Amino acid sequence: MIKKQLDESVAYLKNKGFNAPVLGIVLGTGLGKLADEIENPIEAHYNHIPFFPLATVEFHSGKLIYGTLEGKKVVVMQGRFHIYEGYDLLDVTYPIRVMHQLGIKHLFISNAAGAINLNYKKGDIMLIEDHINLQGGSPLAFKNVSLFGDRFVNMNEPYDLIMRNKIKAIAKKEGISLQTGVYASVVGPQLETKAEYRMLKIIGADAVGMSTVPEVIVANHLKLPILAVSVLTDECDPDNLQAVDITEILEIAGKTEPKMIRLFRELLKSIEA
Ligand code: HPA
Repeated sequence: MIKKQLDESVAYLKNKGFNAPVLGIVLGTGLGKLADEIENPIEAHYNHIPFFPLATVEFHSGKLIYGTLEGKKVVVMQGRFHIYEGYDLLDVTYPIRVMHQLGIKHLFISNAAGAINLNYKKGDIMLIEDHINLQGGSPLAFKNVSLFGDRFVNMNEPYDLIMRNKIKAIAKKEGISLQTGVYASVVGPQLETKAEYRMLKIIGADAVGMSTVPEVIVANHLKLPILAVSVLTDECDPDNLQAVDITEILEIAGKTEPKMIRLFRELLKSIEA
């Protein structure tokens, strides 16, 4: 990765008015509506930002949105890059480095995921407290990583404890049930076999999805506190596995989204910035 490219991406956005956001938000599959609630939005399409990963056709609508939410300046990623679309781990995490250089002090991440823990049901929200990286690589495995931070990044507490405690208290107060657990990231895009779901349970995963972990690793590299949630869209019971299709995943994500938005907005209110 080259610092100069990052500087150019950031200069383009600053020039458009992306001025000192305090929070970055990554919106997962089917979870894009929070972007519509941003006041005085300024948009930058991924295709127009210099050195941003080149968007695929599918990805036409991907954009960064800057504006105000709960009285604070935020920058939102509507649409993210996935390994399964053919991007590499540096591409997938490039926007995190851009948002960091724009000045964000906290990062919220959301995703759609399958429930491995069968006490959890579709439509539940799960606070991610730890993860298992099954994507077969690291976004920090590049030659000049030390120009950007430490190489051997600690992952003893990758998800910020203060924000975790805050969102649990908020969920309780708002009467929103919030599960907690371990998120495992796979490459995809195929869903898992019964044997794979069985394995994921044995190794300690509560949910599985195809994103988030690379972004969290890079945010830890940048010492950026992270809060991440999974919206559980399907139940991965290896003894009674049903075929799921993406339309159902999107539908469940859409139905659950208002609860997630409430949690995020309340948490944002409580953040000093
Ligand atoms: N597996 C992987 N990714 C997913 C799933 C799943 O069951 N559901 C939503 N994203």
